[in-house]
Amino acid sequence: MANNKIGNRSEEPALKGTAVAPSNIALSKYWGKRNDELTLPLNDSISMTLSEVKTVTTVEFSNKYQEDVVAIGDSSSPITQVEGSKKKRVVKQLNRLRKAGETNFPAKVVSKNNFPMGTGIASSASAFSALTAACIQALNLKASPQEQSILTRLAGSGSATRSVFGGFVLWHAADNSDESYAEQLYSPDYWDLSDVILVVSEEEKKHSSLFGHSLIKTSPFFKARLEFVRKTNEQLLAALENKDFKALGEALEREMFVFHSTAMTSQPSLLYWSPKTIEVLKQVRQLRQGGLEVYATLDAGPNVHLITPTGQAEKLVSYVKNLKLVNKIYHCRIGEGVRYTNQHLF
Ligand code: DP6
Repeated sequence: MANNKIGNRSEEPALKGTAVAPSNIALSKYWGKRNDELTLPLNDSISMTLSEVKTVTTVEFSNKYQEDVVAIGDSSSPITQVEGSKKKRVVKQLNRLRKAGETNFPAKVVSKNNFPMGTGIASSASAFSALTAACIQALNLKASPQEQSILTRLAGSGSATRSVFGGFVLWHAADNSDESYAEQLYSPDYWDLSDVILVVSEEEKKHSSLFGHSLIKTSPFFKARLEFVRKTNEQLLAALENKDFKALGEALEREMFVFHSTAMTSQPSLLYWSPKTIEVLKQVRQLRQGGLEVYATLDAGPNVHLITPTGQAEKLVSYVKNLKLVNKIYHCRIGEGVRYTNQHLF
């Protein structure tokens, strides 16, 4: 990776950068790693980048700070300084980027999500993608989109690797670290699909994905899952190419059930669903019988993502609004990838 040599840092006015990164929803899930340190996944995964759920992060490297400071907020909690494992994960990524940018300055990081964290809307995807991009900008690093995707992956959030790009995205499991990056398959305007996210619970999940990834081999379905997801990816790629919504929907919904079956049958068992999740999944079947083209997927949390052609999204939203089950609805279309802004958070 080519770096810009940055000379006398104390004369630099500010090594500051701000990036806005989107979340994404996996149509086929990344679940299980073959290398923890390098965040190398067991399988390829395919996602859709979301237009409305984002993290904005400002990073400043400066010798006016005594130590790294990390503050995080979301739609339901104000920006607050974090310590412990949350901070450690951010500092690890700061260290990696400080090394690339040849600086020792401590950093201040302020990050804000416009949606609740840790509830299956992949907050780490947008968060680590925004953090990495803000550092790249602050330190004036030269990184190609592929290199940026790899740097983001090394932060430990695999799904963040995909959030660098807009539209429909494929993350290659690949054979080695330099080849395990994400790439855009199709731009956001290729196919007008929506993800109507139904927030049925805003509680932080009890088990992190990190823990879940480590358990996959304990499921009796482990090998079957890997074989299944390989075939699913072929089906998803064909459905995307042909813009065949039924094929896409059937493949992504079945994949969600296989992913959750694997999590449920791990040891210990991981059960991310709530009674409301199951109720919504039943409603989705009824809606389909009534002629609406809608399919469901869930990440490692209870909230349901309803994938539908945008032309049918309004009807879907007005239907689900009437369900007593839902706390909040986010209607996302397919979004752009990471972008930079001068509107710093501090
Ligand atoms: C189920 O380790 O990328 O969402 O955002 O913390 O859950 P978290 O991070 P990560 O695991 C993602 C697991 C998944 C599937 C996916 O997004 O591919």
